[in-house]
Amino acid sequence: MEVIIQPAKEAAARLVARIIARELRTNPHLVLGLATGQTMECVYRALVRMRQEEGLDFSLCSTFNLDEYVGLFPSDPNSYRHYMNRHLFGQVNIDLRNTHLPNGLAEDLDQECRRYEATIQRFGGIELQLLGIGKAGHIGFNEPLSALRSRTRVKALTPTTLRQNAPFFGGEDKMPRRAITMGVGTIIEARRCLLLATGESKAAVLAQAVEGPITSMISASALQLHARCTVVVDEAAASRLAGKDYYRWIFENEPEWAEYR
Ligand code: F6R
Repeated sequence: MEVIIQPAKEAAARLVARIIARELRTNPHLVLGLATGQTMECVYRALVRMRQEEGLDFSLCSTFNLDEYVGLFPSDPNSYRHYMNRHLFGQVNIDLRNTHLPNGLAEDLDQECRRYEATIQRFGGIELQLLGIGKAGHIGFNEPLSALRSRTRVKALTPTTLRQNAPFFGGEDKMPRRAITMGVGTIIEARRCLLLATGESKAAVLAQAVEGPITSMISASALQLHARCTVVVDEAAASRLAGKDYYRWIFENEPEWAEYR
């Protein structure tokens, strides 16, 4: 794992967008795993700007989102399909036919989960997976006790997640109780993982994920098993990391990061 600390959330999001842009320029057919949530909005804004100002080309890439709520129509403003269309897909030159999210309206949800996994395989696997982290330590909607080898499946949302996302729905009672999510095993099969965490509210759980033991209670801790995982944080989210000085030293001295310093 590598941890990169940036002064503020905008700088952290910009750095994540630059890493994605670099991968996309190197390989225009990139299979990109995407996340939703408030943290990612800054990243998508930066990518849209790169499209407008530098002509960053999305026309050949394919995307797979981590998750989708069960029971929401794509047109529902709270569905992740709606979020993606609004924040990214509708503003860049991506072919919508190459954008994939689990179908939370499928009649047979288990079959839909198998279909999603099979589609990822058919595309050759995910090359770069973008991730956020929830207050319960989840990646995707892999809530505490998610098996570290889990695959795409339906998960019930924990009270912490319901509380975290309820404001968007106007109250917990109006929120779906379940979501389809890629499993922890699915996520860590991506060739590269890129996690962004910003803000003080993520500091404690981020420290557990990065420096604590690998445990299914904090599914993000499974990223410690990944051969190529980059964690980008702002100062606020980094505030509880014991090894901050060491991480800064690596970023300043590792030749791979020279172009991002
Ligand atoms: C969303 C997802 C979640 C979020 C996480 C952080 O697709 O997979 O794991 O990344 O809940 O959400 P925010 O950024 O809203 O704090």
